[in-house]
This record gives sequence, C-alpha cells and structure tokens, in this order.
Amino acid sequence: MNERTIALVTGANKGIGYEIAAGLGALGWSVGVGARDDLRRKAAVEKLRAAGVDAFGVPLDVTDDASATAAARLTEDRAGRLDVLVNNAAIAGGAPQEPTRVDPDTIRTVVETNVIGVIRVTNAMLPLLRRSASPGIVNMSSSVGSLTRQSGTAAESATGPVAVAYAPSKTFLNAVTLQYARELSGTNILINAGCPGYVATDLNGFRGVRTPEQGAAIAVTLATLPDDGPTGRFFEDAGVVPW
Ligand SMILES: NC(=O)c1ccc[n+]([C@@H]2O[C@H](COP(=O)([O-])OP(=O)(O)OC[C@H]3O[C@@H](n4cnc5c(N)ncnc54)[C@H](OP(=O)(O)O)[C@@H]3O)[C@@H](O)[C@H]2O)c1
Repeated sequence: MNERTIALVTGANKGIGYEIAAGLGALGWSVGVGARDDLRRKAAVEKLRAAGVDAFGVPLDVTDDASATAAARLTEDRAGRLDVLVNNAAIAGGAPQEPTRVDPDTIRTVVETNVIGVIRVTNAMLPLLRRSASPGIVNMSSSVGSLTRQSGTAAESATGPVAVAYAPSKTFLNAVTLQYARELSGTNILINAGCPGYVATDLNGFRGVRTPEQGAAIAVTLATLPDDGPTGRFFEDAGVVPW
C-alpha cells in the first residue's frame, strides 16, 4: 500500500482539472491524471512531475465502460486503493442549446459525459475507495445547475446562458450526488458537489473571469474535508450553493 494519499482526477490534462491535480499534488498526494488523449495526458503528467508532483497517467474516457474498468485496474496496480476521486471531466456540448432549437443528440451526448460518465467512473472506483481510511468523492458541478439560481429566486438573478443540455446536466449531477450520499450514508465515504465559479477555460472559449487555479480551490477544499465533514452538499468558495 502506498503511504501517500491517492487521488484520481478525471479530465486532468487541462483547465480546472489540471489545476486540481496540481493543487492536490502540492499537498504531497499521489495524483492520477485521468485523460482520454495519450499525448495530452503525457504532457500534463510531465508538466506536473516537473513541478514536483507525484503524478501518474491514467488513460480514461469517462464515456467508455472498458476504459473506466481499466483505469480502476491501473489505479489498483499503482496504489492498491483510492482515497479521493474528483469527477471533473465534462463537456459544454456546443450550440444551439436553446430548448426550442436543440438537437436531442446534443442532450444525449452531454448527459452521457457529464452525468453517466460520473456514475460510470464512480462505480468503477468504489471498490478502491472502500479500501481507504478517509474516502471522498468530489463532483465538479456548476451553479448554472442550481434551480434556485436559474429561477432567480432567493435574491439571486438567473445565472448563465440558456443552455438546455449543459445546465440541466449539472442539475442532474447534483441530484445524482445526493442519491450517492443517501446510499453511502452508512459508510465513511463523503460525496459532495463543487462549483468553481466562472473560469477562463476551453469550456467557455476562455470567457470566464477566474483562473483555473482559483476554480480548482473548491475541489481541493472538498477533497481535504475532515472525516466528519459534510456529505451530499453543494459548495462554492463562498459557501453552500442552493440546489
Ligand atoms: N470553466 C467554467 O467556468 C466552469 C464553471 C462551472 C463548472 N465547471 C466545471 O468544471 C469542470 C472542468 O471544466 P473546465 O472549465 O476545466 O473545462 P475544460 O478546460 O474544457 O476541460 C474539460 C476536461 O474534461 C475532459 N473530458 C471531456 N470529455 C471527456 C471524456 N469523455 N473522457 C475523459 N475526459 C473528458 C477534457 O479532455 P480533452 O482535453 O480530451 O477534451 C478536459 O480535460 C467541468 O466539470 C465543468 O463543467 C467549469
């Protein structure tokens, strides 16, 4: 068994995921860099190692059952267990996403990655998480999935653009997070959703206003919760996000 805390971050080759890997690596953790593209994964692992991170590459396409199974096997061979899984990989889905104009295939594709992908990877990794003394799962969500904020209630105005695939995929992910928290309530596994804020990445054509490092902070916070920390909650840097 590896003495270091072991984390796996999906979609860690760029953007917020890369910075989550860097942030957890800076804590001295061993970090699996989950990425579907060989070249992008190798480049990220090399960059993280150059920065002193104990990083290892994990080939992982979250839409592929066999890939998730192989990623779990690789993580087991490398570390024997998993302490923290960060489900970060996601897609925006492109345009149009007005409800009246959307191609149903856009919705299927986004849900396959942003929701089913999280379930697929989580379930593949759960046997390894159950071997940890302090297991945790962090689902990277978005406040655009908050129905409260979408509807402009609670003294908040509607958030994000109209996007009938992406925004509801995060609402769905939040609901899935709660379902896991309920099923796992008798275990030591904490599972929470986090929103990174509006971050300049490929996902939004770099229109976001925060840096990927700032966006990664909430994931690092949720990955390092104490054993008696919250579960089944949705957080951003400023605190709890309404569902
Ligand atoms: N940026 C924001 O303002 C913002 C706001 C709220 C929430 N978020 C959330 O934060 C997370 C990270 O987003 P980001 O802004 O960093 O986006 P990004 O720069 O586009 O990075 C997305 C990552 O997900 C990976 N990915 C996509 N589909 C995948 C698949 N099928 N299998 C494996 N990896 C896959 C991408 O890999 P490739 O390089 O191979 O495509 C990439 O590494 C997402 O969950 C996003 O919804 C972002």
